[in-house]
Amino acid sequence: MINKYFYGILFSVVTLISVAGCQTNKKQSYMDKNNPTWWKEAVVYQIYPRSFKDSNGDGVGDLKGIISKLDYIQSLGVDVVWLNPIFDSPNNDNGYDISDYTKIMQEFGTMDDFNTLLEEMHQRDLKLVLDLVANHSSSEHEWFKQSRSSRDNPYRNYYHWWPAEKGKPAERWSFFDVNSNAWKYDSLTNAYYLHYFAVSQPDLNWENPKVRMEIYNAMRFWLNKGIDGFRMDVIPFISKDTSFPVLSEKYHGDFVHFYANGPHLHEYLQEMNKEVLSKYDIMTVAEGAGVNSDEVLNYIDSERKELNMLYHFDGAKLGLIPGERKKLDPNGVSLIEFKKVYSKWDSVTKEKGWGTIYLGNHDLPRMVSRYGDDSLQYRALSSKMLTTFLMTMRATPFYYFGDELGMTNIKFNKIDDYQDIETINWYKHLQETGGDLNDFLEMEKWVGRDNGRTPFQWDNTENGGFTSGKPWLKVNSNFKTINVVAEEQNPNSVLNYFKKIIRIRKENLVLVYGDYTLYDLENPDIYAYTRELDGIRQLILLNFTSHKASANLSFDIADAKLVIDNYDNTPNLDDLKNFSLRPYEAVIIEF
Ligand code: GLC
Ligand code: CA
Repeated sequence: MINKYFYGILFSVVTLISVAGCQTNKKQSYMDKNNPTWWKEAVVYQIYPRSFKDSNGDGVGDLKGIISKLDYIQSLGVDVVWLNPIFDSPNNDNGYDISDYTKIMQEFGTMDDFNTLLEEMHQRDLKLVLDLVANHSSSEHEWFKQSRSSRDNPYRNYYHWWPAEKGKPAERWSFFDVNSNAWKYDSLTNAYYLHYFAVSQPDLNWENPKVRMEIYNAMRFWLNKGIDGFRMDVIPFISKDTSFPVLSEKYHGDFVHFYANGPHLHEYLQEMNKEVLSKYDIMTVAEGAGVNSDEVLNYIDSERKELNMLYHFDGAKLGLIPGERKKLDPNGVSLIEFKKVYSKWDSVTKEKGWGTIYLGNHDLPRMVSRYGDDSLQYRALSSKMLTTFLMTMRATPFYYFGDELGMTNIKFNKIDDYQDIETINWYKHLQETGGDLNDFLEMEKWVGRDNGRTPFQWDNTENGGFTSGKPWLKVNSNFKTINVVAEEQNPNSVLNYFKKIIRIRKENLVLVYGDYTLYDLENPDIYAYTRELDGIRQLILLNFTSHKASANLSFDIADAKLVIDNYDNTPNLDDLKNFSLRPYEAVIIEF
């Protein structure tokens, strides 16, 4: 009896404990699953320093310019600023060709300016992430000058050299070379050096431990100053099979995938983490060129101790003709494919790792020109709709400066207007090979990188208030109406919508951590998904077209609360109940 009774009590105690345990477990499993961290909740704002604000009239944006606009950046509600490279560089690729990793580019200012920038940012609770360009340096870096000078120079092994007496090295393609050839013959030592990008960007030899130590030291230099992380330029490319084998057929259409999967890549990232990253509370994000969704966890699964995040190219590749160099498919981007890509990438980080989301950056055209509609009628609406997408996915948004104004592609008519080495060298390539130059110029209006690099539009004065001098790249003539001053005054502007939706994301952690579920996949017009967390459910509806469209959903939203809508006048409730949206409409409802 007693025993029975005893066991009975024991049983209920156990049940109670396990029920309570379950509750803590539930909480804990939520905690474990999401492992909340500042960089998961952050909105990253990317600034192309050359084009943000010029302080001294030389036509080039600079650090003092950024300092003068920190109140603006703070007013947006973003948390982190990622600056494209600000280091010493001859600027063949606008700073992606570094000649000294611990010096500030003269055009951008001084180390004192940098220190002030960092201090003033931290005072405003803004974090600063710098761009680490470690796959290659500039050919003007002292290491390369030494390396080139003789075969027995101590720096020879800092780069990849192929002695010409061994014959021609196996073919490697280059992104920016006029002949697409990543090997450059150098008569001084009768050898070829490797450059995946321009001839002036020789690839560093990461297989040499000294090179890795040099880069780690440069990283420590900036981290010890107190920066908050790194965006890592083409980091998947760093490790190479130095026997340089002939590439098998399967990589001929996809050499980027080959470049991204070098033999010791993950060893080096783990070493970098152990030596440097693990010692600081920072965020890291890899530029994921060539990395597939089934490989991404190798970079960002926290148990592997490598990096925090990676941004993929699958979205950016949508609507481009496969196998062709940056050519748009005349059929445009299929929304169904778009949904598949972003849903797949959400699913790979469901249990481990953490995702990123972006639609624009310095390598891409303006997001509204690419995925929205930059016509007078729909520019603002479609910009807001795309912003809604970026701010409601389960990933850290990387938001490109100027998109908060709805800036558009400049669509240059002449090659002379371009400054970008990629566009210029491909034009030369076509000239030399008898390609269709007009066709190319037409295409660059949609895909060229300079579209996203035109100066920021501050006001309606000359050059949009960017510079008192001659801007290094032309200012888009629409600055008269699309600019900060005009948009700050207009409560319905793209800018004010951006600020509002950032606030909404911050106040609704469901939009950060909540589960993502896609609905109505086959709908070619509307992207519909829910985000759910701890009993809160929000439905996001995005019309990607310039016509009215309806989603095929069966939710009962009679008592739903409207969280935000991108139209100036709120939607008709009956329309909403039928999930019918106006052109480029974006809605969030909670129910
Ligand atoms: C990355 C950068 C790009 C640069 C290239 C070479 O793709 O984002 O701007 O040109 O690497 O460094
Ligand atoms: Ca300047």
